Amino acid sequence: PTYDFHEIRDTLVSVAQVAGDMMRAADPSVREDSDTKRNSADRVTECDKAVEMMVLDRLTTKYPSFDFLGEETSKAGQTLGDGPTFVCDPIDGTLNFIHGFPNCAVSLALAIERKPVVGVVFNPFRRELYSAIRGFGATVEYADGSVHSLPTSGPEPPALSRGLNGCLVALEWGSERQGPNWELRTGMAIKLLSAQATGGAMCHSVRSSGSAALDLCYVAAGTIDAFWEGGCWAWDVAAGWLIVEEAGGLMASANPGDWDPTVEGRLYLAVRGASGGREEVVEEIWRHMGERK
Ligand code: IPD
Repeated sequence: PTYDFHEIRDTLVSVAQVAGDMMRAADPSVREDSDTKRNSADRVTECDKAVEMMVLDRLTTKYPSFDFLGEETSKAGQTLGDGPTFVCDPIDGTLNFIHGFPNCAVSLALAIERKPVVGVVFNPFRRELYSAIRGFGATVEYADGSVHSLPTSGPEPPALSRGLNGCLVALEWGSERQGPNWELRTGMAIKLLSAQATGGAMCHSVRSSGSAALDLCYVAAGTIDAFWEGGCWAWDVAAGWLIVEEAGGLMASANPGDWDPTVEGRLYLAVRGASGGREEVVEEIWRHMGERK
């Protein structure tokens, strides 16, 4: 079957705008009444659940033959099939949402054969809308209504000629605060920040703004050079992955050829578009990790 990806993108954009209205309208006390998932830093609010129900309802009504995988409604062990599947994170950056830190977004993608083909990420607080269709590039629409192709730095983004040395790198902490994954994350942060720790390069700095989906959009825009996280879920990265690739960036996992977006704990690395130096950045990050997981 053939699908009209432009129509699907427009549908995802309008659903994301409704989601954004719900996020902006959420009563601050509703935000504070968040439930704890696996530990006190792993939260969900009534707004996350209400947004996901709205998204599920609208998308499955309009596209009844498509599957749906969402953060709040997924069942343990549910995997992403090969058929057309909407992948939804109703609020990526729930902790930011709870604290009123305006860096959170609804992230919606359509995946076919487990690869995203349409992606939309919308931050309703800054009114920034990122979207991409496979083969048609990626754009951002800012609050003033202006639309720009990504990367915003133009068709020839500057080379990453100093490897990690010259990079601003986004990494996120997740909610686990102990165990091997926590050690991997903290170890990586130290290695990225300190030349002493590696006997070599240190990046300009690291940034943790609390939303993996938006980090990927910032890589696509070219304002962040690389994003690394050990342990995301499909809904955190599906839309952003496509937006990075359509902006000429590189999306890699530590499991080459074995990218399974449904398995928790996968390692994600995105590097912005550049006319050179990208492979060095990828290699340096893999080296910092030691054994690939
Ligand atoms: C989380 C955020 C966070 C990242 C986590 C994600 P959520 O998404 O993107 O930055 O560290 O891995 O799960 O739970 O706010 O949708």
